Amino acid sequence: MKKLVGLIGYPVSHSMSPEMHNAAFQKSGLPFYYDKYEVHPDRLEEAVYNMRTEGFAGWNVTIPHKQTIMPYLDEISDEAKKIGAVNTVVNENGKLIGYNTDGAGFVKGLMRHVHFPIEQAKVLIIGAGGASRAIGYALAQTAPKSIVIANRTMEKARDIQKECLREHDKVISLQEAAAVLSDFQIVINTTSIGMKNDGSTPIDLLHLAPGTVLSDIIYNPYKTAFLQEGEKRGTIIDNGVSMLVLQGALSFEKWTGMQPDIELMETIVIEKLGGNYVNR
Ligand code: ATR
Repeated sequence: MKKLVGLIGYPVSHSMSPEMHNAAFQKSGLPFYYDKYEVHPDRLEEAVYNMRTEGFAGWNVTIPHKQTIMPYLDEISDEAKKIGAVNTVVNENGKLIGYNTDGAGFVKGLMRHVHFPIEQAKVLIIGAGGASRAIGYALAQTAPKSIVIANRTMEKARDIQKECLREHDKVISLQEAAAVLSDFQIVINTTSIGMKNDGSTPIDLLHLAPGTVLSDIIYNPYKTAFLQEGEKRGTIIDNGVSMLVLQGALSFEKWTGMQPDIELMETIVIEKLGGNYVNR
């Protein structure tokens, strides 16, 4: 009998997770099957009830349910509590446990490009939404020298700094960030600006130093204006495929206790996106 896992969200039609996970399950010889389920916000409680009683091994959670699912779960991991969002549920013999693999997945992807000691790195995170919070929290666990968050609405960045980062980490404006850009060895764009695909970037990249690791969590467009501009300036670029694949790989591990073939998962996603460079 197949063990069921999947994705709940609203909408979910665009998701590449079924192909990515099912290929990895097959490669590992695991009897798991991943499907996507569109769940209207009004029916979330009912969906969780049904998935529990139908014996789902677990599932992923995406927008708009990442916060609202929390009251329907039996336990929330520390990192999901701090991040304030659940993207992975594990059904442990009827007990539903909520985790967040977004931040740790992002960091794992990023680290493939960081060939210097992370303790020496100054990191800039641009944006202060849900993704920024998950990434900030997970990055702080790796203890870089400093993390600075820049956001249009500075209050939102201050909340993340207080709740997820360390005392010496800082908040600055987007203008300040542009001016001191060459101070950072790692620069991460978590804003949604690139999705418009109109050439705009969250900050001016004039002062970007060559060799900087530059990351954008967007994968559609495949190479945002932010990454294109960075590439011209000699930075090492990484798009949102890394986070998508590695958050998925961490969910896979939680459900199965095994490590998936990450390269296979990544190849499937890149093919689906028609991508022309590989994030490795
Ligand atoms: P998510 O939860 O997926 O990270 P979000 O909460 O919508 O997404 O966050 C989007 C981020 O992009 C926010 O930091 C937002 O800035 P504000 O907090 O000031 O709203 C940022 N963002 C979106 N459009 C922007 C723009 N045109 N200029 C600057 N920042 C922008």
